Amino acid sequence: MPVSERLQFPSGFLWGVSTSAYQVEGNSINTNWYEFEKAGGIKTGDRSGIACNWWNRAEDDFDIAQTMGLNSLRLSVSWARIEPEEGIFNAIAIQRYRRMLNELLARNIRPVVCLHHFTHPLWFEQKGAFLSPQCVGDFTRFVKFTVAELGDLCSDWITINEPNVYGVEGYIDGNHPPARKGQILEYFKLLGNMALCHGSAYHIIHGLQKEARVGFANHFIIFTEAHHEIFDRLAARIASDSFNNAFINMISGKRALPFSNIRSRLSEINNTWDFIGVNIYGGVDVAFDITRPETGFVRRLNPRNGRTGDLDEAGNPMFGEIYPQGIEIVVKKLAHHQKPFIILENGVPDREDRLRPWVIATAVKTIHKLIQSGYPVLGYFHWTLIDNFEWAHGYYMKFGLVEMDPVTQERRPRLSAGFYSEIAHNNCLTLDMVRRYVPEYVNDIFPDSADER
Ligand code: BGC
Repeated sequence: MPVSERLQFPSGFLWGVSTSAYQVEGNSINTNWYEFEKAGGIKTGDRSGIACNWWNRAEDDFDIAQTMGLNSLRLSVSWARIEPEEGIFNAIAIQRYRRMLNELLARNIRPVVCLHHFTHPLWFEQKGAFLSPQCVGDFTRFVKFTVAELGDLCSDWITINEPNVYGVEGYIDGNHPPARKGQILEYFKLLGNMALCHGSAYHIIHGLQKEARVGFANHFIIFTEAHHEIFDRLAARIASDSFNNAFINMISGKRALPFSNIRSRLSEINNTWDFIGVNIYGGVDVAFDITRPETGFVRRLNPRNGRTGDLDEAGNPMFGEIYPQGIEIVVKKLAHHQKPFIILENGVPDREDRLRPWVIATAVKTIHKLIQSGYPVLGYFHWTLIDNFEWAHGYYMKFGLVEMDPVTQERRPRLSAGFYSEIAHNNCLTLDMVRRYVPEYVNDIFPDSADER
């Protein structure tokens, strides 16, 4: 096969999927999210229930991942299961996680473990969660215990998933617990505290495990000014700085957020990342709006054109325009930090699988181009393996490569699962695969091919 018909990846490139404990395990009681569900927080009225039943049968889905040829899988552990009461740890929960990690390793799948993915024990929530003055001590104690118990089975750690999404959804938009709205100052404060938690966890993990790779997952949205005028440009800048860049600016020692409580403590957390974890789904146009001080004067507009995933229960496109090409923008922008990148989440809500194959092909093509140009991208983790509990949208939004019926628990691979599996098995994307899975995009992915447009 001519080289121009194959996008070959370096050996050892990580082809993975991402998941999170609450979304797949089931019956995650004693958490902030369980209480939120009980209080009617899920817009569709769904309850997470047994989710994908991973607490009992994750191994069946690990079989699917293995059959697909994946060599890595990102999951998270539930702090609430591990430390159900403050200072009291649960050996049974740790045993279950040890079994999961062992089962992954037995399938030649490298686990990447995230220590906080939106959920935590109720006792921690009741103390004020990441606004509590004790949050660093609490989080660090849990991390120390967990990494000491699981560290022989895993060396890739994500301390916290998307502090920016956790903060915006929970304290500004009110869609996640604790369902506060417009609390910008609290958002700044908790991001500062989460940076301290992350930094402390980073040092603890490295103290326990020299070879560990430790980072966090940052969510990126590509913000574009709605009109080419100075105020909309300012809005795009405010949105990027307060959402995309806020956490990274602290961890890279550049600057703290306005009014932040950690201005004098930046040196404690400086350079506490071994890789840049990128979660990216979409892009939105933004306009300056003087009537919206609670969102930093930023108004998001629905995409004018471009591709959108399924609309949510309120008729809105989640993540605006689906934009895997944005991987290139993010990587180039952050390359000066001189860290390797791992794309830790990328996907689309897409029940009918109309757009997902294109998302995969485009992400893979974009990453390949970056690697060819010398940017160190070590892996791609698609969100997600199996349809699961999509937070405030319940089971309505479907992100899985594999379809799952939450009532019958039946799994059915979507076309995309076959596509991604071929890429992973072969460690490359070929013209032949593109012709079979996304024929309408052959010229985008392989512009030198002789195919007719
Ligand atoms: C979160 C996932 C979520 C996904 C799709 C990410 O921001 O980390 O938990 O399911 O987006 O909404």
